[in-house]
Amino acid sequence: MQPSNFDLFAEHEPEQQPRREQIGEQSWLLRGFALGVIDQLLPALNTVLAEAPLRHMVTPGGFSMSVGTSSCGELGWITDRSGYRYSSVDPLSGLPWPRMPSVFAELAHAAAEAAGFAAFDADSCLINRYVPGAKMSLHQDKDENAYSAPIVSLSLGLPAMFLFGGFKRRDKQQKIPLLHGDMVVWGGVDRLRFHGVLPIKQGRHPRLGEQRINLTFRVAG
Ligand code: SIN
Ligand code: FE2
Repeated sequence: MQPSNFDLFAEHEPEQQPRREQIGEQSWLLRGFALGVIDQLLPALNTVLAEAPLRHMVTPGGFSMSVGTSSCGELGWITDRSGYRYSSVDPLSGLPWPRMPSVFAELAHAAAEAAGFAAFDADSCLINRYVPGAKMSLHQDKDENAYSAPIVSLSLGLPAMFLFGGFKRRDKQQKIPLLHGDMVVWGGVDRLRFHGVLPIKQGRHPRLGEQRINLTFRVAG
């Protein structure tokens, strides 16, 4: 009797093992990549957010974003009525953004390397908090000075359905469920792909409660 597919996969890819899935020519989903450092990462995140609290920023069109946003590192991404840009100071406090914790920088570096991008040294970490119902519309990350470095993204808390599209807004999108500890890296020829997040479903994550937090690491300056 043939073993079932399930048995074959169970033998070669135990569920606990981090898995690497290619989602584009130079794009990778790294399942569970951050799970080993979560215990160091969450307290560091809380320290950053105590210094630079989450806030709902306004788009140039005048809409309040559904995600709460903050940053750490040399540069933080901001939006207001005058546009999208990076700033070296937190407009809320007028002070520099909190330093990027080393556990953040090292994790982002390791994820980029696992996706084939050597020497990734992020100068910006954008923090987005999604409560159930919050979403991120399709967009390209193109406010950075150069596109040679990849985008490195980490998902924490409630699951999300990530949309990973093409180079035109209307291009068909892959729908990729992202779970706590998963990372996605896209760069090189894929750097300007459209992407977004469907509204987060109601739920409670055992570690983070009723929220999803996404950290996006970039070389912005
Ligand atoms: C973003 O594109 O800025 C966020 C992506 C995500 O939340 O997974
Ligand atoms: Fe983005």
